[in-house]
Amino acid sequence: MYDITNFNEYQAEYKKSVENPELFWAEKAAQFSWKEKWNEVLKWNFSEPKVEWFIGGKLNITENCLDRHLKNNPNKTAIIWEPNNPNEQSQTISYKELHERVCRFANVLKKNGAKKGDRICIYMPMVPELAVAVLACARIGAIHSVVFGGFSFHSLADRINDADCNMVITADGAYRGAKEILLKAVVDEAVIHCNTVNRVIVLHRTGCEINMQPNRDVWWHEEEKNVNSNCDAEIMDSEDILFILYTSGSTGKPKGVVHTCGGYMVYTAYTFKNVFQYKADDIYWCTADVGWITGHSYLIYGPLLNGATTVMFEGIPTFPDAGRFWKVIDKHNVSIFYTAPTAIRSLEACGLNYVAPYKLSSLRILGTVGEPINEEAWHWYNKNIGKEKCPIVDTWWQTETGGIMISPLAGITKTKPSYATLPLPGVQPVLLDESGNEITGNNAEGRLCIKFPWPSIIRTTFKNHDRCRETYFSVFKNYYFTGDGCKRDGNGYYRITGRVDDVIKVSGHLLGTAEIENAINQHKNIVESAVVGFPHDIKGWGIYAYVITENKPENTEELKKEIVATVTKYMGAIAKPDKIQIVSGLPKTRSGKIMRRILRKIAENEIGNLGDTSTLLDPTVVDEIIKNRIN
Ligand code: WTA
Repeated sequence: MYDITNFNEYQAEYKKSVENPELFWAEKAAQFSWKEKWNEVLKWNFSEPKVEWFIGGKLNITENCLDRHLKNNPNKTAIIWEPNNPNEQSQTISYKELHERVCRFANVLKKNGAKKGDRICIYMPMVPELAVAVLACARIGAIHSVVFGGFSFHSLADRINDADCNMVITADGAYRGAKEILLKAVVDEAVIHCNTVNRVIVLHRTGCEINMQPNRDVWWHEEEKNVNSNCDAEIMDSEDILFILYTSGSTGKPKGVVHTCGGYMVYTAYTFKNVFQYKADDIYWCTADVGWITGHSYLIYGPLLNGATTVMFEGIPTFPDAGRFWKVIDKHNVSIFYTAPTAIRSLEACGLNYVAPYKLSSLRILGTVGEPINEEAWHWYNKNIGKEKCPIVDTWWQTETGGIMISPLAGITKTKPSYATLPLPGVQPVLLDESGNEITGNNAEGRLCIKFPWPSIIRTTFKNHDRCRETYFSVFKNYYFTGDGCKRDGNGYYRITGRVDDVIKVSGHLLGTAEIENAINQHKNIVESAVVGFPHDIKGWGIYAYVITENKPENTEELKKEIVATVTKYMGAIAKPDKIQIVSGLPKTRSGKIMRRILRKIAENEIGNLGDTSTLLDPTVVDEIIKNRIN
C-alpha cells in the first residue's frame, strides 16, 4: 500500500483526498483482494443519512486479513499473546495457524446453526480465541457484537437484546490481575432476560466451576473436534454489516454503532499503516481491549490487514506490578506501542522505579488514544518511555468513525503536546459555533464536525436509524457531529477539549450519565439520582453522583457502599461512582429538567460561577448541595 513518507507527501495526499475523494479512495481500495470490483465509489447524503462506499463490491475481510498473506508469508507471526500471569507461557500464532484456527471455528459456528447476517455476541477475556471468534464471525458473514468483559449482566443483556443475538461466545472465567472474573455466570444471569439466545459456546480458560445448560451450552474444544479447518469465506457486499459495537449515549440505552465490510477495511488498513508508519518487521502492541473500538480497528483488523505482528495482552498494567507494560515491551521487542492516557497517568503515579529495570530500546513509535492527553503526562511518556526519540501520535477518533481521524503521522507531522494535530487524508473537519455556522480561520474554538464522508463512517445505529440521524446528523444540518469541543491553533492544529454532551470519559471509557443513573436507581432506597463528571488526576474524569433517598439512611457510609455494589453488579465496575452525595432535592427547572450545568459546576468546585439559579423550581437546594459538597 502506498506510504506517506514525508510531510510534503502528506500535504499532497490530503489535497488529492479533498479534491477528488472518489479517485483517492478507489486507489487505496484497489490494493485489496475483491471478489468483484465495485461499480461506484461513493454515494452519500447526510440528511437521511445514507452513506455507501465501493458500491457493488464483493469481498470478505478475513481473506484480506489472512488468506492474502499466506502465499508470501505464511509463517510470519500474526499474534503474540501475553498472558495475565507472567509465569504462564506466551504464545505466538503464525498467519497460517491463525487462518486454520479461524476456519475451524467458523465451521463450529456453522455447525451450531450460525449463518450470514446472524448477530453473535462475544463476551470473552483477552485471549487469542477472542480474535479467532471475531474473525470466524466475519468469515461466515455473521455480525459480531463484542461486549467488553468488564460489563455486568444487565449491560450485557441490554446489548444482546438490542441486537437480537442468537448466540453468545464466552469463556468459563477470565483472569484480570489477581482477580478471577466469572464470565459464564454473568452470561447465565444475562441470558435469562434474552429469549433470542439459543446457543452459548464456552471456551475453557480458568477452569472455574460453571453450569452448562443442556441443549444450550457447548464447550468450544468439544465442538472443534467434530469439524475440519476448511472454510470458504462468505462473499459479502461492501455495504453488508461487518459488526455492531455498542457505545454509550446521552440517553440510557447504548447505541449499536454499525460498520460495514468494504469501507471499514480500506480505512482501518490505510490509517494503521500511515499513522504508525508501519514497517514489515515491526512488533506492534495496542493495549486496548477488543471490547472497545480501538481493539477492533487497531488490535485486530488494521494490523492483520497489513500483515503485521500484533501483540495481545490478557492482563492489566499493574499486575503483578506497575512495570508490566515495560517488561512486556522488552520481552517481545515491541517497536510500536499504543495505549491510553489514563494508563500512562496511573503508571506515572507509581514512580520511575517501575520503569528503570527495563531498556525499552526496541521502541520506535508511541501512540495514545481515547481521551485528551495532558501535557504533563505527554512529557513523562516522551521522556521516560520514548527516551525522547520516539514520536508520539495522539490519535483522535471515535467508535462511530471506525478509524483514526485527526492525528500526527509518526515522525512526519511535527507534534505538539495535547494536540491531535492535523486531519488524515480524507477527513474534512470543521468547527461550528452554537448556531451551526462554520468558524473559518485559525485560533478558533467550537464544536467539532466533519463535513464529508470517509469510508468507515457509522452507517446506522442498529435497528434505529432515527437515533443515528438525531444524534449525529441533525444537530447541525449536513454535518456529522462528533459531540466533542475543539480548538484550532494558529497553525491549524486541532486540540480536542472534551465532550459537550451528557457522556463522560472515565479512564478512557465512554459512559452515559443516564446509564449510570439507571444503575444507581436499582438500589431500593434511591428515588432519583443525577450523575456528572469531575476532573480526575488519573482517570481523566471521575463519576460524581447526587442521590435522593426514599428513607433517611441509618448509616450513610453503608448506603454509599451498597450503591457502589449495585452499580458494579448491574452495569460493571468501570461505572462505579467515585463520589456520592446524598441530597434532599436536585436543581430542576420549572418544567422538571435537571440542571446538570449547575451540578457539574459544583462537582468541579466552580461554585463562584454557577450562573443564574433564580429560574429554578427551588433555588435553595443549590445552597444545600454546595454546603455538603464532597471534596
Ligand atoms: C475522546 C475511542 C482527545 C473524544 C477511539 C471522543 C479523544 C471519544 C481522543 C470517543 C484524543 C478519543 N484526544 N479526546 N486523542 N481520542 N477521544 O468512542 O471525546 O470510545 O469523542 O472511541 O473519546 O470515544 P470512543
